[in-house]
This record gives sequence, structure tokens and C-alpha cells, in this order.
Amino acid sequence: MSNIVASHEAEAPVSADAQRLAPLFAPLRIREVELRNRFVFQPHFTALGHIDGQPSDDLAAYYEERARGGAALIVTESQAIHMTGKMSRRFIHAWDPAVIPNLRKIADGVHAHGGRIFSQLTHAGHTSLEHPPHILWAPTQMPEPSSHFSTKAIDEDDIRTVIDGFAASARNAAEAGFDGVEVKIAHDGLLRSFASPHFNRRTDGYGGAFENRMRLSYEVLEAIKRATSDTFPVGVRLCLDEFTPFGYDLEYGLQMARGLEATGMVDYFNSDAGSFSSYWMEIPPAAVAASDFRRLCAELKRNSKLPVVAFGRINATQQGIDMLRAGEADLLGFARQLITDPETPNKIKRGRGDLVRMCISCNDACLHQVNQEKGIRCIQNPGAGRERTVNERFITPADTKRRVVVVGGGPAGLKVAEVAAKRGHTVTVLERQRVLGGQVMLAANQPEHAIIGEVTSYLESVIADQGVEVRVGVSATPQLLRELSPDVIVMATGSEPNLPNQAEDNGRQARALGRQILPEIPGLELPFVVSSDQVLSGDVKLSGKVVVIDDNGHWEAAGTAEFLADNGCQVEVVASHAAVGEDLESGTRTLFHRRAAIKRIRLRTSTIVAEIAPGRVQIAQVFSSGDAVGVGQYLLLPGDEEWIEGVDWVVAVIGRRSREDLYLELKASADFTGVQIERVGDCLAPRLIQSTIGEAFALGQTL
Ligand SMILES: Cc1cc2nc3c(=O)[nH]c(=O)nc-3n(C[C@H](O)[C@H](O)[C@H](O)COP(=O)(O)O)c2cc1C
Ligand code: SF4
Repeated sequence: MSNIVASHEAEAPVSADAQRLAPLFAPLRIREVELRNRFVFQPHFTALGHIDGQPSDDLAAYYEERARGGAALIVTESQAIHMTGKMSRRFIHAWDPAVIPNLRKIADGVHAHGGRIFSQLTHAGHTSLEHPPHILWAPTQMPEPSSHFSTKAIDEDDIRTVIDGFAASARNAAEAGFDGVEVKIAHDGLLRSFASPHFNRRTDGYGGAFENRMRLSYEVLEAIKRATSDTFPVGVRLCLDEFTPFGYDLEYGLQMARGLEATGMVDYFNSDAGSFSSYWMEIPPAAVAASDFRRLCAELKRNSKLPVVAFGRINATQQGIDMLRAGEADLLGFARQLITDPETPNKIKRGRGDLVRMCISCNDACLHQVNQEKGIRCIQNPGAGRERTVNERFITPADTKRRVVVVGGGPAGLKVAEVAAKRGHTVTVLERQRVLGGQVMLAANQPEHAIIGEVTSYLESVIADQGVEVRVGVSATPQLLRELSPDVIVMATGSEPNLPNQAEDNGRQARALGRQILPEIPGLELPFVVSSDQVLSGDVKLSGKVVVIDDNGHWEAAGTAEFLADNGCQVEVVASHAAVGEDLESGTRTLFHRRAAIKRIRLRTSTIVAEIAPGRVQIAQVFSSGDAVGVGQYLLLPGDEEWIEGVDWVVAVIGRRSREDLYLELKASADFTGVQIERVGDCLAPRLIQSTIGEAFALGQTL
């Protein structure tokens, strides 16, 4: 029986591009559940659940927003089927009938917008986000290699508990009005560890032969079928390749798929890969190519008659269309893309794909947040995870239309411009460089980082669409600003490296007022000490031995070190933190460390630079992270000095200063009395994009 619904008319896109887009909007049926198009919001932990296991209203709003944006199917985050199966205290208690009313709210919200919703069910097994975790259940006693916490080898009673938990959870989901369930045999959890030859060394009926390793999954499927109905769809999210030296590969993953399909109890496959020990293949950062996953999905499709959901960085519309046309997938799974832009399906359908905000696979605010059990966020979407209170749909027209001048065309300035224009103000952006983007343009020059440019590409498209006037190559002066006779000036002039010897110094006045200070490392003023801005902009070309100081913990130092290594330098990074790139999400950081090893970048951690002298750099061990410069001098005991010799250049990433001199001048000038002067972004305090965009959005709404 074909799952494809014959008529494509109902959901046909209206744009001139209709033919090209048609595969995306063709309906598809999973059992009796009709999906209006091919967009699936992939399951992902949001940490929006309450710690008593109840789904929250924030979670309901989160899913509703994606259904409103046009997704056909929403698969919820992993929900626990038993207390021992919670990966985080914020996991939902799917087994407990007490959650049914709140689950029903979620289902109703999604249905109200024409979406369908399946519940993903799991026992987290040997993986946990908590330190220390509760007792971890596993087939055989051993830690997951990415962790040092050992496990309990579960017995027959526990196995029964697991099976019953899946059945009760599926029954609760059906009773709450969910359209189906998805069983997780994916990158984490007990069912995959039972299926895995590495993790399952049992010799009883649940281990040994392939069919024995799969037995728990089969029994779970049977129990779910018994607890629900024949027509209630049951899918499987399947890890196709663990991508570890010790784990199973695609061939084994496909064998699992064949075994599961042969039971006749599976209605679709949601593809998946990786594990906690290969996190970057599970939730791939920008350095992992989408083609790696496309290949897996295509293989699964070739080996199965069931509908297949593709996964893994399917951000570009054309890639999805190509996969559907090539028969490599039936449905397209998007997790982070729909976190970034919940309206992606509707925008494409309306022929406004140019206004889709693209996920940049940074993992900074989604994964990095939830791994700390904090509610999900997105660096670009200020409303992600708090849709009920902060939401781009809530932008309202201003009562009084005003003339707004934004000084600075980085992410913060452009975001304010977008919101102000949507509120009906007349907006002009002044940017002193010839291109918009600010520091984003520098960051995009780092290896594996070009995609960050999408942040400002989107903002440029949207402000153009809103009719914002943009003047590039124009330095804002008090005189020019007077001539523009604004009602509001928003200073978004960004920041610059807080070093001596920089071509520009927009903190001179601020320093005279004691508002800013220079760092105190002796030798910073020497001519061979430069900033990452100078390196990435191409203002200076370095060669030979370079010491990069990482007091930043994010990409600024790490990516610059890699840029220099790629350009033939011998690079050594000295980081005051416990890891270079300490604030990066762990999978992203691990990949960076691997590349650093391959590129022979030497990483020294918990170390500060105490002094810079001609041709050499003195370092000392620190025993505190973060602002360790002053402390470090105390720790440099006589006789402990160590010098890195033969240094040609030092790139000091040790903080930035707000470009605030112009702001101070305007505030002090009688000429601007009566003009509302605001500042936003790094001009206020140098930070990461995710903070500045959120704050710019909030400021824009007040104008
Ligand atoms: C924050 C976060 C949490 C995730 N949690 C889950 C989960 O609970 N269950 C699951 O099957 N996949 C989970 N995933 C993986 C996603 O479903 C998806 O496979 C992955 O993000 C790659 O797809 P994408 O490139 O479209 O984001 C999670 C992903 C993210 C970003
Ligand atoms: S935080 Fe980064 S990776 Fe996560 S959804 Fe937003 S843009 Fe994508």
C-alpha cells in the first residue's frame, strides 16, 4: 500500500516556484494519520518540562508554535517511560497518568493548527545529563565510554518494568489525543544499548545472538500494540551507525531496521546516528557535512519499504527537495532549523524562502543550554523556548511613528532595525564598513565557520524587505546624526579588542572617565602583539611561531588559532580556562580539539601569560579559571617561571572594549537634547551574539 496521498492539490504552494516546491507539500499518510506536508519537527529535549515530570505550558506553546508555522508532524522530545529512565530531572513522566491533562493541552495546541503529534518514548539507560546521575540501567555493567559512571546490569524484573513502562506511556499518549508514538532505539537509551554488540554482553535470552539483542525492542513494540490499537501508528527512531571505533556500523544498523520491519509492528522509521561518545554525529555542528547523513537516510530507504524520515542539517530547501525527488526519504526531519525559524514551512509555501532564517548549527543556545538542564533557546530566535512571553509574532505597530537611526550594522543593530521597522518606524542604518555584519564577518573567516554569516544575511534580507535604508561606508559623526534629525538614535557600534596598538581606539574617552581600563600584562604594547580582528580581517599576515592567548573561551581564540594553523603558522594556545574553547558546546569543542591535534596546534590550559618580552612569552599555571591574570601573578613563585621561546607573534584574545566614545559624546551634547539615545549589543557590554540579539529584540519593541 502506498503511503502517498494521491491528491497534492490541497497543500499546493502558491508561489511561481510551485513545481519545484511541490514535493515538500505533498501529503503523506502514516497508517490513518494524514500529514499535510513533508516537514517533521524532530524530537529534541527542551528542558521546558517541570521537575515533577509534568509538561509545562511553555512546552505546549513551543510545539504549537511549530505547528502554526506549518510543520506537518511534531515528534515530542524523549519522554521517560519510568523513573529510572529520566536522562534529566526535566524529562516528562510519560508513564504516569497524571500527565495526561497536560499532554492533552500539547496535542490540542498542535491539532488546532492542522499539525499531527507523536510522542517519543525512551528509557535513557546508561546516559544521563546529571552529575552524579541516578542508577543507570544497562544490559551489562559498564560506563558509557563518554562517562565515568558505571551502570546496573538489569535483571528480568527490571526488563518487565521497562516493557510495562513503554506500554503505559503509549496508552497515556493515545488517551491524551496524540496521533502516534515513536520508540527510541536511537543515539542514547536502553533499547539501543541492548541492541548494541558492544554494550550488550549478556548470555541470557536478551543477549548473544542478534535476535536476542533485539528481543527487548520487539517485546516493547508488542506491548505498545497491545496497549493501544492496531491503527495507532508506532514508529522507531533508529540509530543507523554509532560512529565510534567500538560501536556498530551502518551495515548492522540496516540489519536492525530489517529485523524491526519484519515484526510488522513498525509504521515508519525516523533515521538517526551517533551516540554520547560521538555526540557530533548525533547533533552535528557546522563542521559535519549534511551529506554524511543524507547517505545514511538513502541507505535506510533502499533497505526498507516503510516511510523514512531523513535527519541531519537539512536546512536548505533544495537539499530536502532533492532527497524527496531522489527517493532518499519520504519525510524531512528538522530539529534546529525549526527552532531557529518555526515559520520555515509556511514561508517556503508562500514563496518567501528568502526570508527563512537559517540555523547555523552552532549548538550554542539549543544544545548547550539543555545539556545544562536550562530551557532551550536559540541564538537567532529570541522567542525560542519562551513563546508565550517573547515572540516575534507579538511585534505590534507603534502608536507614534518615529525616525530611528541605528549606528552600526552588526547583529544587534540590524535586529533593532528589523523590529523598529516592523513597528512602523522609519529606520536608517549607518555602517562605517563597506559591508554589514560587524564581527560576524570576521568570525566567518575562521575555518568551519563560514555559515555564521547566515546570521546577518537573514537580517539583511528582512530589513530590506521592511524598507530600512542602509548606508554602508559611512562613519557616523555628531554632525551627520544632527542632519538626519532622528527621534531615536540606537548606538550599536560594537566593540574592539581591548589592546594598545589598535588602529582605532573608541574607548579613549571612556578610559579617561575610568569607565574602561586596559589589561595589565607587561609587554602587550610590543609591536608583535596583535588582535584576532587584525588577523581575521587580513590587516596583518602572520608567519612563524604564534602564541594565541585564549581568555575568551569561545570561538574568538580557538577559531583564530585554527585559521593561523591553516595559514602555515606554528601555533600554541595558552588558555586560562580548563579547556581551550571552554564555553563551546561539548561536541563542537571535541571536534575543534581533534582538528587542533591534526593541525599540530599545541593547547596549554589552566595557564596564563604573565609577561610578553621580545621573542618570548612567560607563562604560569593558574588554579582558578576565568579572570586569572591578577591571581596568576601571585601564583608565579620564584623559580617557577617558564618561557615560551622563539615567538614571532602573539595574538591576544583577552577581552574587548565597547566602542562607546561616540555614545558618550552624544549623551553629553546639548544638540541631542530631546533625542532618545539608546545603546545595544557590544557597545553596551561585549558579549556573544545570543545575548545581543535577544536584547536588541527587546529594545526594538520598546521604541
Ligand atoms: C537540544 C537538542 C536535543 C535533542 N534531543 C533529542 C531527543 O530527545 N530525542 C531524539 O531522538 N533526538 C534528539 N535530538 C536530535 C535531533 O532530533 C536531530 O536528530 C539532530 O538535532 C539533527 O538534526 P538537525 O540538524 O535538524 O537539528 C536533539 C537535538 C537537539 C539540538
Ligand atoms: S542555537 Fe544555533 S544551532 Fe541551535 S537552533 Fe539556534 S542557530 Fe541553530
